[in-house]
Amino acid sequence: MTTYLIAGGCGFIGSNFVHFLLKRQPETKIIVVDNLGFAGNRANLDGVVDSITLEVEDICDFEAMTRVYQRHQPEVVVNFAAESHNDRAVATPSDFARSNALGCQNLLEVSRRNPVRRHVHISTIEVYGELGESQEWFNEASPLNAKTPYSAAKAAGDMFVRAYMQTYPEMDIMLTHCANNYGAYQFPEKLIPLVITNVLRGLKAPVYGDGLQKRDWLHVRDHCRAILAMIEATCGDIPAEAATDPSKLPIYDISARNELTNLDIVSQIIRLLGKEPSEWIEHVADRPNHDRRYLINPARIETELGWEPKVDFETGLEQTVRWYLDNQAWWAAILERSGSLQFDWSTT
Ligand SMILES: NC(=O)c1ccc[n+]([C@@H]2O[C@H](COP(=O)([O-])OP(=O)(O)OC[C@H]3O[C@@H](n4cnc5c(N)ncnc54)[C@H](O)[C@@H]3O)[C@@H](O)[C@H]2O)c1
Repeated sequence: MTTYLIAGGCGFIGSNFVHFLLKRQPETKIIVVDNLGFAGNRANLDGVVDSITLEVEDICDFEAMTRVYQRHQPEVVVNFAAESHNDRAVATPSDFARSNALGCQNLLEVSRRNPVRRHVHISTIEVYGELGESQEWFNEASPLNAKTPYSAAKAAGDMFVRAYMQTYPEMDIMLTHCANNYGAYQFPEKLIPLVITNVLRGLKAPVYGDGLQKRDWLHVRDHCRAILAMIEATCGDIPAEAATDPSKLPIYDISARNELTNLDIVSQIIRLLGKEPSEWIEHVADRPNHDRRYLINPARIETELGWEPKVDFETGLEQTVRWYLDNQAWWAAILERSGSLQFDWSTT
């Protein structure tokens, strides 16, 4: 029976991973660490609270995290903890630098001083920056070229991960870059749940600018399957060539090669809710410095670990809309607590 420490386990992807893991390995011991920040939500773990231990702590706090490691002796650490909303990062970039860069390094350091079998850091497609229209995709060998406060903070975390992989080869560290996720328990400030919860409340769906920004979408369950495949895989020694070629490091890009414009997605959701997109879409001022396009190639994880996405987008989106319809109390409580989650860039 493995003991997992899941940092950020009260957020969207972290809580999905906790539910997923408990289904796959009911006997497993799970310690969730979360500071219950803006998007952290205890209710994401409703139904499994008796099967896990929740430690309300900040990954930036070295002493507190050391105590958590010493108390629970985790074997596998998965770090989902981060500030994750691009809009909010424009408003409060320092919060993002703290959790996403310093928090990432702090947790690596706690794992170095209290050795674990494997430390997996969850990063994002966005660290590669914006993909040009004539470019095919990014992959693990692509340079980091973050240009937004969110992606810059995540990229800074990535650089620490790569530095730890190579400086402390006795540690067993893996790094992921995943496409945009969608599914249950996503905080309703993000595009898909924002559109669903707006339309269900009789409000229009905001589309930034022309809505032709392209994103690469993966169902959160497929992301969880990829992370588990990584945890179960053997991670060999870091080869000397990794010094000049990052694709030789244990880094996996995760995607379903599913590229769609924001306008497409918003229209599909509105149709699933039985409404006419032209009547429910409102084009609003775009976020400053909004990346136009992301797409990554998952060939490495497909070839080396045999992972492939299983949820097709139409089915996944329909299930997601159904989940928000069936769980109105979950998101109504968040909206009551947080107020409007829609940013208005026309006034900034
Ligand atoms: N959502 C996506 O589409 C997506 C895609 C690729 C990668 N990622 C990455 O996956 C991870 C999880 O994303 P998410 O969408 O679930 O985000 P989320 O905002 O829903 O959840 C993040 C969780 O981390 C917690 N947290 C933040 N700072 C913390 C700190 N200092 N100490 C302890 N807990 C802290 C929050 O309270 C929250 O529960 C992030 O690292 C993100 O960069 C997300």
